[in-house]
Amino acid sequence: MQQRETWGTRAGFIMAAVGSAIGLGNIWRFPYMVYENGGGAFLIPYFVAMLCAGIPFMILEYGLGHRFKGSAPRIFASISKRWEWLGWWQVLVAFVIATYYVVVIAWAINYFIMSFSLGWTDAPKDFFFGQFLGLTDSPMNLGDIQWGIFGAAAVAWAVTFFAVFTGIRRGIERMNKVFMPLLFGLVLIFIARGVMLPGAVEGLNWLFKPDFSALLKPQVWSDAFGQIFFSLSVGFSIMLAYSSYLKDDSDINNNAFLTVFINCGFSIVSGIMIFSVLGYMALQQGVPVSEVAGAGVGLAFVTLPTAVNLMPMPVFFGALFFLALVVAGLSSMISITESVVSSVNDKLGMGRKRTACLVCGIGFMVSSMFTTGGGLYLLDIVDHFVNNFGILLGGLAEVIFVSWFCNLESMRRHVNRSSEFMVGSMWIVCLRIIIPIVLGTIVCMNFYSDLTVNYGGYSTSAEVLFGWLVLFSCIVMAMILPCRECAFAQHVAINNDFRQRR
Ligand code: ALA
Repeated sequence: MQQRETWGTRAGFIMAAVGSAIGLGNIWRFPYMVYENGGGAFLIPYFVAMLCAGIPFMILEYGLGHRFKGSAPRIFASISKRWEWLGWWQVLVAFVIATYYVVVIAWAINYFIMSFSLGWTDAPKDFFFGQFLGLTDSPMNLGDIQWGIFGAAAVAWAVTFFAVFTGIRRGIERMNKVFMPLLFGLVLIFIARGVMLPGAVEGLNWLFKPDFSALLKPQVWSDAFGQIFFSLSVGFSIMLAYSSYLKDDSDINNNAFLTVFINCGFSIVSGIMIFSVLGYMALQQGVPVSEVAGAGVGLAFVTLPTAVNLMPMPVFFGALFFLALVVAGLSSMISITESVVSSVNDKLGMGRKRTACLVCGIGFMVSSMFTTGGGLYLLDIVDHFVNNFGILLGGLAEVIFVSWFCNLESMRRHVNRSSEFMVGSMWIVCLRIIIPIVLGTIVCMNFYSDLTVNYGGYSTSAEVLFGWLVLFSCIVMAMILPCRECAFAQHVAINNDFRQRR
């Protein structure tokens, strides 16, 4: 049997895992989640989600990858052939994410280049939606490809391809060893200057001031859990793939804690970076902080450029911010793609290089849809459905299957075996009781709200086509891929010991 690659060093694995976790989700999504959910109040559900779901889930995924040494479909197939579909569901969700995630990186590449001449003009909002995106009037009208975005998406796919093509140690690990220190350096330099700006403290007050009434809103809790799953890259096959390359004697629990803490710490740091700028901008415009921020993509691509225009040393701030976005995005993009490549390779045995060509080639073609004038609408709808249902349903099915139908106690022994500190019964309680209840409730709430009101005011046909149909196609393909004729390239030994009921 062909030997599975392994990470060169522990630090190499941590950098890659942290690189996967820290991404657009931290710099772009986390600050607007905080903003939309009542400022500092959001930090409470966020930390609850981190402790009750993020850490236990990360330990579980590292344990599964480490023990079964395979990509998601292979892991679930080695537990029970009937559950292979779950792995494919997660992989397909990851693939869909990769196709639009790369386009946001492409915007950031364009904005990084533009930052040297402040090319987003004096009216960044009109520029972004008009000249840059060429936004059409509806998702059903795709309009033309925006060649600047298309070209940058090609570059981002090329970097991703290069990393996965060259392999775990020589490609992914090496690249992250450059990307991560660079990212931390960029953000720290930005903050060091940013917090000195007049008004920055007001912005930070807004970030950390808790509004406890927000805690009564279920949506705030749902957003916090959704954000933790997206940001930690759990529930959609990535950490399973990365941990499958761990050496036998790796410290699972410690690695999981480190990854989660560094990721969540970085989110807070990003919040500080963004809110110090928002505070400055509010002061310049003479309005409260709550009035300057924009939600969604608007925060990074409209509000930030508007603030940068007002700042001293605008080129410095603009270039630093968008370069950080590009680096964070690329390291996550590599991990998302690797999870797909390792799954297809495990299944078809085509070899890493050929599989990387196939996955990146198809991915690039699909991505081009998001580079059209209607691309932002598609991206918004697909992102909403994939996050609210794709990732959460995948995570929910995984946690229910593993904690209720498998021998979780044996997994606890496994993760403790080579770890510096042990997890106890609280870990089991989180996985068996807390996470299924919370995730189940959130998914039901999401279904209810999406079935009663169209997300974002889009037409029903657009929601069906780009939301529900995308999810449905993923389910159908996930069911077809494990068919009997299509066995894994390498024999999968069914692990009855783990499968046994408690
Ligand atoms: N974990 C990645 C992010 O936060 C996907 O962007």
